[in-house]
Amino acid sequence: MTRTGLEEGVTRRDVLKVAGLTGIGAALYASGIERFLPRALTAQATDQVPFYGKYQAGILTPVQNHVQVVAFDIQTTRRDELIDLLQRWTRACARLTAGLSLGESDSRYVPPEDTGEADGLSASHLTFTFGCGISLFADNRFGIAHKRPDALRELPVFDLDQLDERWSGGDLVVQICADDQQVVFHALRNLTRIGRGVVKIRWTQSGFQRSKAADATGGTPRNLFGFKDGTGNPDLSQATVRDKHLFYQWRDGSPWLTNGSFLVVRRIQMHLEVWDRTILKEQERTFGRERSSGAPLGSKKEFDSVTPKQRTAHGEAQLPSDSHTAVAHGTGKEHLLRRSYSYQAGINETTGALDAGLLFLSFQRSPEQFNTIQKRLATSDRLNEYITHRGSALFACFGGIQKGGYIGDALFA
Ligand code: HEM
Repeated sequence: MTRTGLEEGVTRRDVLKVAGLTGIGAALYASGIERFLPRALTAQATDQVPFYGKYQAGILTPVQNHVQVVAFDIQTTRRDELIDLLQRWTRACARLTAGLSLGESDSRYVPPEDTGEADGLSASHLTFTFGCGISLFADNRFGIAHKRPDALRELPVFDLDQLDERWSGGDLVVQICADDQQVVFHALRNLTRIGRGVVKIRWTQSGFQRSKAADATGGTPRNLFGFKDGTGNPDLSQATVRDKHLFYQWRDGSPWLTNGSFLVVRRIQMHLEVWDRTILKEQERTFGRERSSGAPLGSKKEFDSVTPKQRTAHGEAQLPSDSHTAVAHGTGKEHLLRRSYSYQAGINETTGALDAGLLFLSFQRSPEQFNTIQKRLATSDRLNEYITHRGSALFACFGGIQKGGYIGDALFA
């Protein structure tokens, strides 16, 4: 395998295919004049998100159209087998995020190396974000019990939780995002295939959002209750904000997790039928925002600051104190990055109602940020009348993967 100037796991033949180089271009490449290649690659690389970097992709990456979150349980008890799998996954992810297939088979008498359903599709901003759950450290089965970060503990059971074991736990997690659903599925399927015998899927949840290309406004996406969702996310363009609220720091206690982030996954059912019978004024009081503009009640524009104490001329609070925005905002001290998607999963067998809601995904430097906000929401959020939390899981997502390294290598070093 040639690695000159190329991502690990990417061959020259792959590059020629992606770059669409034939004839003279291919001849130049074959003759070693490689400076022609990066340009050709760049021209084709507009929808690729680098797999390697300081942070894992899929956190700061602008939210893609589709997600699949997959939790795996590890079947092997052998540390070397687990590490070997993480290395094979690393090579596969480097190829897939570069828009390449997993390889070509030279023989018609063996199963193809790549399952083929993504042939002809571009990288579609495919990203992988890997993390580990509390159970990975249990029983010291891989010799890493002493490395469990102190903050990686079971989330508390919150008031009104109705959690189903089906959507909880997992030794490893991967958040797979892309703008094409088939690209996401292909990635999920092939990671699972590569992991056969070493890991097995514990649960998988998929989500969608409005497709960016089809949204003429190009603004903040709307959730299934029709409201803009994501407005109040922190401004992560500033490194100080990222360090303070999003990424784990060396000094937090577990150096191997530096530049990683905690991922909370909550499956929250949204009772659409009840919501659909609720008058608009009450819907807006529930979120504390105008539906059309997304502005906080009492303000004019979507990104106006949230001022819970603002009052009307009659002394009435403009932003109801039990509205979702007011309660989640609190005193404005805790921040997390919400990167949620909508989900729909058929119907409730008993009622015939649509089973749909929010696949709530948040990244934060410490799970305490989520816990503090959710504790408040669980006790006094007006939105609770319309939602039920059904699933819950917490993972520590690794720092960025470096070229030559592999997923989670700092944990096993
Ligand atoms: C189905 C459940 C939920 C729905 C439909 C929902 C929807 C919304 C909407 C529409 C907003 C206002 C616009 C925005 O700032 O994005 C908002 C704000 C927010 N939500 Fe939620 N949310 C849900 C659950 C949660 C949960 C579980 C948490 C965390 C524990 C959370 C944390 C926040 C935060 C921190 C804000 C921003 C508050 C601020 O302006 O400072 N939400 N949510």
